[in-house]
Amino acid sequence: METGGWTTMGWRRSGMGLALLAALAGCGQADKPQAADLQKAETLRPADAALAVKYERSCLTCHGTPASQAPLTGFAPAWEARLNKGMPLLLSHVRDGLNAMPPRGYCNDCSDEEFTRLIVFMSGGGQGGAR
Ligand code: HEC
Repeated sequence: METGGWTTMGWRRSGMGLALLAALAGCGQADKPQAADLQKAETLRPADAALAVKYERSCLTCHGTPASQAPLTGFAPAWEARLNKGMPLLLSHVRDGLNAMPPRGYCNDCSDEEFTRLIVFMSGGGQGGAR
């Protein structure tokens, strides 16, 4: 005679949660500059030679490296929201400074007209192939 018995099935815990987390951590941010963007920021110069000199000795120091928290030259995603403020406000921020952005961006002999051209160049609007 055989006595029937119940076998209990154990629940197996699945380890899927951890795998998902690892996959999410690998996603890059679209508004983060990549190696090519950094190289571009280092090499771009305004087409006007006199303006390029001023750019190199002032703005480039910060706007050529993301470590400074400054919007990267020629990197459109960093400039989009700023350009929406309009040129008059951007120009006044360059003249008066804004947080870690020093007044006049260390260019004391830059005119308003030159600041405007520098902003257009840095934000990717032309003058030196930043387009
Ligand atoms: C010492 C570093 C430094 C130098 C030099 C510098 N910048 Fe900046 N700049 C910054 C930082 C940091 C910001 C971001 C400020 C913020 O939004 O908090 C910034 C922001 C800006 C903005 C955006 C302002 C806004 O309203 O969003 C413009 C335009 C700009 N810089 C232009 C220039 C120009 C033109 C020069 C050269 C004449 C220059 N900067 C030199 C650090 C610098």
